[in-house]
Amino acid sequence: MSRSAHPAGPRHADVWPEGHYSAPPADVNALDPKVWAQTVTRTDTGEVSVGGIGVAALAEEFGTPAYFVDETDFRARARAWRTAFGHDADVFYAGKAFLSRAIVRWLHEEGLNLDVCSGGELTTVLSAGMPADRIAFHGNNKSTDEITQAIEAGVGRIVLDSFQEIVRVAHIAQSLGTRQRVQIRVTVGVEAHTHEFIATAHEDQKFGIALADGQAAEAVRRALTLDGLELIGIHSHIGSQIFDMAGFEVAARRVVALLAAVRDEHGVELPEIDLGGGLGIAYTSDDDPREPHEIAKALGEIVTRECEAARLRTPRISVEPGRAIVGPTAFTLYEVGTIKPLEGLRTYVSVDGGMSDNIRTALYDAEYSVALVSRTSDAEPMLVRVVGKHCESGDIVVKDAFLPSDLAPGDLIAVPATGAYCRSMASNYNHALRPPVVAVRDGEARVIVRRETEEDLLRLDVG
Ligand code: LLP
Repeated sequence: MSRSAHPAGPRHADVWPEGHYSAPPADVNALDPKVWAQTVTRTDTGEVSVGGIGVAALAEEFGTPAYFVDETDFRARARAWRTAFGHDADVFYAGKAFLSRAIVRWLHEEGLNLDVCSGGELTTVLSAGMPADRIAFHGNNKSTDEITQAIEAGVGRIVLDSFQEIVRVAHIAQSLGTRQRVQIRVTVGVEAHTHEFIATAHEDQKFGIALADGQAAEAVRRALTLDGLELIGIHSHIGSQIFDMAGFEVAARRVVALLAAVRDEHGVELPEIDLGGGLGIAYTSDDDPREPHEIAKALGEIVTRECEAARLRTPRISVEPGRAIVGPTAFTLYEVGTIKPLEGLRTYVSVDGGMSDNIRTALYDAEYSVALVSRTSDAEPMLVRVVGKHCESGDIVVKDAFLPSDLAPGDLIAVPATGAYCRSMASNYNHALRPPVVAVRDGEARVIVRRETEEDLLRLDVG
């Protein structure tokens, strides 16, 4: 992401150091709808509200830090994906982005399927009433117990990730007297333009079976011979937080080429392909994500074209968006604790959470936005770094952003676009208590994941 190193205007040029930040915003009180959930707005008093409820009341009732999910926005995004892909395709929400039983019920009601990648996620999804045949089970090292649990539950598909797993799943299915529907996950060999830790289609990484050296074709050969397996398709997931459709198009082309090779070799036309998740969202105003209908159109066209060229029936397509559905729908609300201006550098604003509720900045060098939400301010913007309360200097929530220079302890600030991979990757570092997730809709707020308590911590400590 390219961001200007220097803010505009001579007044600032010698004040602000080199950094990733853009120029100070024209209006530090403005809320860019690109990064804030749909119903987030400033009320007449200057306070921010979501779902019709002001943040001061939310902080009062639920405490801080806390994640607030805009249910209206979540459902609208889920529906937009469902509608964009239509009846000839399936949308599997990737539960790893954020999972709770309320979320599963919303997805069920909106007609989406779900992808899980552990026994814990599977149990959660099943316990919320999602029909098993609408669940896909992923993972590069599923345990025997997890595979057994998934097959016994009757999941719609297991995505096979290695040669050992092909045999393992076939064996367990057979011993349970069933045939499991499976896909084979292939690595298509594209370099997705994203952080190295979240790119998954280049060859030198742990996921999938490589297309390039004939391994994927060999995996298909083996899967087709095993009685416990019903091979229904090929799966590819190229990475996460990707804006450029080119990688998906190359992946689609290569997956269809494999389908054609399978048809030529075995006389079998596999009926499904899954192109994974990974679509990027706006974390700052500099990001320009694609809309679901554009993505559906681009993927549909490429698959249809390639299949026509190879004289294949067009397979049923599925996709697995996680971040693109839940990411933009939530923000994290913090209370400002201490403020330290460092002369010639920047001002450090410490909040009551940190890397335990958002590890993404430390882990991926992720960019975030932030706003003062308990009031507006006419003060000059100041360059800040929002940091947490943990015992390390890498405990950064927002690297570089602008907040009003009259910011004071007790003010509420919020970081938008924290719906994905924040609560789901939250930790108890320094014995922090993981924050609650509160769903807000039409003037009502309810806890869907409660705040951890010290009793929760002590319950696990049995020594
Ligand atoms: N399908 C598969 C097989 C996946 O591995 C993933 C994400 C998804 C779908 C959903 O991807 P999404 O649409 O959410 O990008 N913790 C990292 C992201 C890791 C993604 C892992 N797999 C982050 O915070 O950026």
